[in-house]
Amino acid sequence: MKTRIILLFFFFYFAFSFAKTTPTFPFSTIINRPNGLSASSAKAADNHKLYDTKYFTQILDHFTFTPQSYHTFQQRYLINDRYWGGAKNMAPIFVYMGNEGDIEWFTQNTGFMFDIAPHFNALLVFIEHRFYGKSVPFGGEKEAKSSSKTLGYLSSTQVLADYATLIIDLKKNLTATDSPVVVFGGSYGGMLAAWFRLKYPHVTIGALASSAPILYFENITSPYAFSDVITQDFRSESENCYKVIKSSWQFIEDTAKQAGGPEILEKSFRICKNNISADSLENWLYTAYAYTAMTDYPTAANFLNPLPPYPVKQMCKAIDDPRHGSDILEKLYAAVNIFYNYTGEVNCFDPEKPLEVLSRIGVQWRWQTCTEIIIPVGASSKDSIFPASEWNYSENAKFCKNAFNIEPRPNWITTEFGAHNIKRVLKRFGSNIIFFNGLRDPWSSGGVLENISKSIVAIVAKEGAHHVDLRFSTKEDPKWLKDVRRKEVKIIHKWISQYYHK
Ligand SMILES: *[C@@H]1O[C@H](CO)[C@@H](O)[C@H](O)[C@H]1NC(C)=O
Ligand SMILES: *[C@@H]1O[C@H](CO)[C@@H](O)[C@H](O)[C@H]1NC(C)=O
Ligand SMILES: *[C@@H]1O[C@H](CO)[C@@H](O)[C@H](O)[C@H]1NC(C)=O
Ligand SMILES: *[C@@H]1O[C@H](CO)[C@@H](O)[C@H](O)[C@H]1NC(C)=O
Ligand SMILES: *[C@@H]1O[C@H](CO)[C@@H](O)[C@H](O)[C@H]1NC(C)=O
Ligand SMILES: *[C@@H]1O[C@H](CO)[C@@H](O)[C@H](O)[C@H]1NC(C)=O
Repeated sequence: MKTRIILLFFFFYFAFSFAKTTPTFPFSTIINRPNGLSASSAKAADNHKLYDTKYFTQILDHFTFTPQSYHTFQQRYLINDRYWGGAKNMAPIFVYMGNEGDIEWFTQNTGFMFDIAPHFNALLVFIEHRFYGKSVPFGGEKEAKSSSKTLGYLSSTQVLADYATLIIDLKKNLTATDSPVVVFGGSYGGMLAAWFRLKYPHVTIGALASSAPILYFENITSPYAFSDVITQDFRSESENCYKVIKSSWQFIEDTAKQAGGPEILEKSFRICKNNISADSLENWLYTAYAYTAMTDYPTAANFLNPLPPYPVKQMCKAIDDPRHGSDILEKLYAAVNIFYNYTGEVNCFDPEKPLEVLSRIGVQWRWQTCTEIIIPVGASSKDSIFPASEWNYSENAKFCKNAFNIEPRPNWITTEFGAHNIKRVLKRFGSNIIFFNGLRDPWSSGGVLENISKSIVAIVAKEGAHHVDLRFSTKEDPKWLKDVRRKEVKIIHKWISQYYHK
């Protein structure tokens, strides 16, 4: 079995290959959520003043005093003061720690903050991560991404320092220095939120870190764990579903080798192009299963792609559908069609461009996963739904050497933020962090799943997927999800009242 290099991701998880994709449809069409903050979307949001867009002159390098470090760039942040109780009342400030992408996109997926802001009379601030969206230094994407000389300023420590600098300055401008700040984040943004609370306790009183796999570094979490959760998600729907997918990889490879085989595959999967490789076809399928597991939400969602409620169940239903008889390819097609074509608007598929949204984070995220965010994920055990494979650090390092001519520093994150023996370390150090994880989310395998202390708590939902708690609430939300959010609100309440009390 060949090794599959998976270049991580968080939200964004890359089945290997340097996608040199160009957008196939306008970004705005994938931003589309049920309820209020609707599809026609970011623009509409602006019009209805869901937030104002501002820019802050940010320092390029917080950690040296070399001439270059004094360079600046414009950092975008979004602000909504509609619910704010004001500086005089020391009303709270809720800050979303932007992750690897356009910040407007994250506001669409962080409805929870909008939902609870009125209750807390909170000011909402969403800060964009440097090198993404419109917060790109060096005068533009092309320059910023050109080499390690520029990309070198893209690191999590710089990002946290950006957030601290901006928050402090914003509070000063609002004469709100006494307002308590609570930080929020999902996925990689959740890691940033947790780390921010540990590193900048004087800037924030607490952090909600949703689906933050802060323990997926070095050898703390098994490289198989991510795939194991995906396997479990599908297998728990039906044993047949698991078996069909598991056996399909060999079947596809065998088919590809036969005379006329590639044509059969292209036809079965409605592929636009000729001569697609079995590898890219497999990566495309892998992407569909992995992201469907991550976004196995209880209500219809449009996070990465429009999807029905409980899409894993839907995929397995398609695979188990007796109408497809024993035709494996037809079964698989029916399943991935749910992920790639739920809207019914796709004419044919291009496995080399699996997801529009992934192409937008491209080089920057690859840089981050080649320097410090070294998450040994994507290996598959013998019983995995994917072909068995091992995590191979050297292979990843080789990839990074080729891509950027750099050597990864796989030990840096644990050196800077810790993670080993987290219970022992954080029990007496640190406070006020909520770690939410949904156990259907493959990333939960690298999350904090146990309570650490009275105020560093793990909220675990066995039915939950990737930061499902941060999504907008809907009428169809199941009880367990309402309970999760209620718990979170209660804890945040406690942090704030304790702050006022003192
Ligand atoms: C605070 O005000 C100054 C002066 O108007 C401005 O330059 C700066 O960008 C403001 N800070 C933030 C975070 O908006
Ligand atoms: C991780 O690696 C270190 C050093 O090689 C070793 O001491 C430790 O036991 C390993 N931990 C796990 C959980 O495998
Ligand atoms: C199909 O792709 C393979 C490998 O990428 C290549 O060797 C072959 O020449 C291609 N065939 C055609 C008809 O383009
Ligand atoms: C997408 O779905 C529509 C509606 O079900 C269908 O007509 C179309 O063939 C599908 N596209 C692909 C590529 O299968
Ligand atoms: C890991 O990758 C390196 C570099 O590609 C290769 O030389 C080595 O054989 C691989 N190791 C295993 C165990 O597959
Ligand atoms: C952690 O403690 C909270 C109460 O403070 C509780 O609601 C939660 O279920 C506990 N988490 C776990 C994983 O036991």
